[in-house]
Amino acid sequence: MFVYTTHREIHSFLKDKKGSVGLVPTMGALHQGHASLVEKATLENEWVIVSIFINPTQFNNQEDLAEYPKTLTKDQQKLAPLKEKLLLYVPEYTDLYPEKLASKSYRFDGLEKHMEGAYRPGHFDGVATVVQSLFEKLSPNRAYFGEKDFQQLQIIKALVVQLDLKIEVVSCPIIREDDGLAMSSRNALLSPKERKAASEIYKALQVIQSNQTAWDASKMSHYFKTKVEEKSEMTVDYFFIANTTDLIPVQSLERGISYRIFVAVYTRKTRLIDTVELGIM
Ligand code: PAF
Repeated sequence: MFVYTTHREIHSFLKDKKGSVGLVPTMGALHQGHASLVEKATLENEWVIVSIFINPTQFNNQEDLAEYPKTLTKDQQKLAPLKEKLLLYVPEYTDLYPEKLASKSYRFDGLEKHMEGAYRPGHFDGVATVVQSLFEKLSPNRAYFGEKDFQQLQIIKALVVQLDLKIEVVSCPIIREDDGLAMSSRNALLSPKERKAASEIYKALQVIQSNQTAWDASKMSHYFKTKVEEKSEMTVDYFFIANTTDLIPVQSLERGISYRIFVAVYTRKTRLIDTVELGIM
């Protein structure tokens, strides 16, 4: 499968082609979650660009960046059946950061403040910088993102409004393993024991969801921490319930408002995140 390394090559390929372009931005180590984004993009567009770029500016931890899984050959094989309409873009950082490899600074009305924004300082500036660059350089009609990174998704929607770009941001549901663990490139870093323990994250979230009318926020948080940390492999980095619109964490739930639980959990080295809806009660 041909690999495009510059946005100019992609432009020259697409310049005399008709139809819409869908972009699926990724950092590689492709899994079924990515496959569902690519599949949707393929159904909705004539051309699909999949970008693979491990974006250094969004990592606040250099060890995390160094250990992020890199599986380009396998990724290419996974995408090969779609090669008639798919363009694989694997740039050097200079193509996305022509001036210097650094984040810009953004404000998104507080959407960036809590959860990942607070626990991974600079993370969303890095994400927004690379996504802005991808959007400006590739000019897709639509771009596809998974709801596992729900906060990222809301920020990218806000970015598109802020920059007044004519790009439809398409959100796609979380894809889970059979035991409920949300699919993530980082799952590949888990030892068999950690992988088994990690299934407790979604199990605990499901129990909380089914008790949402009976339990208050502090009981939910206590239950999650207790259940997940029972397995010595894991520690809870955070548990928040936040309003789905402004992503501000709350201590108590009001009827008629839509919330989400956001969690981050550490296994020995790997950090996993997940999110589920708390229905309007
Ligand atoms: O979700 C991701 O994989 C990354 O944050 C993204 C959107 C590709 C930007 O580097």
